[in-house]
Amino acid sequence: MSTFQNDFIGSSPQLTSVIRSAKVVASTDVTILISGESGTGKELLASAIHKESRRANEPLITINCSAIPESLAESELFGHRKGSFTGSTSDYDGLIKAADGGTLFLDEVGELPLSVQAKLLRFLETGERQGLGEPSPSKVDVRVISATNRDLYTEAQEGRFREDLYYRLQVVPVELPPLRNRSGDIPILLNAMIERFSGLHNFAPPSFKKSAMKALDQHKWPGNVRELRNFCERMVILFNGKEIGFENLPLEIRNSHVKNNFPAKIADLLDLGLSLADFEIELIQSALRKTNGNQTKAARLLGLTRDTLLYRIKKHAISI
Ligand SMILES: Nc1ncnc2c1ncn2[C@@H]1O[C@H](COP(=O)(O)OP(=O)(O)OP(=O)(O)O)[C@@H](O)[C@H]1O
Ligand SMILES: [Mg+2]
Repeated sequence: MSTFQNDFIGSSPQLTSVIRSAKVVASTDVTILISGESGTGKELLASAIHKESRRANEPLITINCSAIPESLAESELFGHRKGSFTGSTSDYDGLIKAADGGTLFLDEVGELPLSVQAKLLRFLETGERQGLGEPSPSKVDVRVISATNRDLYTEAQEGRFREDLYYRLQVVPVELPPLRNRSGDIPILLNAMIERFSGLHNFAPPSFKKSAMKALDQHKWPGNVRELRNFCERMVILFNGKEIGFENLPLEIRNSHVKNNFPAKIADLLDLGLSLADFEIELIQSALRKTNGNQTKAARLLGLTRDTLLYRIKKHAISI
């Protein structure tokens, strides 16, 4: 089994096609730009590409471009000689040199200060780096993968990112689709993550009732796989071996499910001036019809106790 199949859970055509291209480019030295919303697996993909490349036994150096202050970015990447600027008390080779022979992963590359972008472009064109205060450049053998959750094309059009660097970084662009667009992957990921975290915490795996699974499958997962992963870990800990129903799901998931499943017809009825009392009567009658008049079952369908249902039937003088 390849690193990709091992690391990436999911079998949707959308994910499979990304993995297919990643496998092809992994064996080359070509520069790759991975884009995708937060939590879609950009870092995981960069590391899988490195592990599947001829550089697998050499370092994978990750730089989070949004975490380095602008004043230090150049020296962090390219290095410096002692005394080349105030406070440089020793020689430092920089992260590009540290990745020599291996892979450099520029995470959140859209955040790289414009001043350093020019120098990075020169390095990509020539394969040479030159630290601050170094008399001459030196060759390094580094494969560059970068990632962004911004639309770098627009950033380039609007002058916040160098256009020439954008084209140089994305010799091969790879776009990880948001989880909500990966058909069929949500249940697969839920089951696999529940199993993974149950094993990790040594708990019995909980299971999802149909109603819960349906809501989870329809959830938009704005935080993508990261959100789903954290949700599964929480469920394993809270529901050790138990069944998880719709009512046990986090409020935001329940709310968005109810909102998205609010039947269009009901919304139309509001335009006709349907009152809440009419609506309640309508719902109670439907529940009673559905359960052939069984009040206990009808109460359960409506999320009420039998006493409350009886009270409401009496109040509205409802008959089936
Ligand atoms: N298809 C997948 N199968 C299994 N785990 C995955 C998958 N995709 C992502 N993950 C996991 O989800 C989490 C988030 O992934 P990752 O950090 O790679 O996302 P990202 O795109 O880099 O997010 P950000 O933009 O916020 O940095 C990680 O724990 C990663 O291992
Ligand atoms: Mg990331």
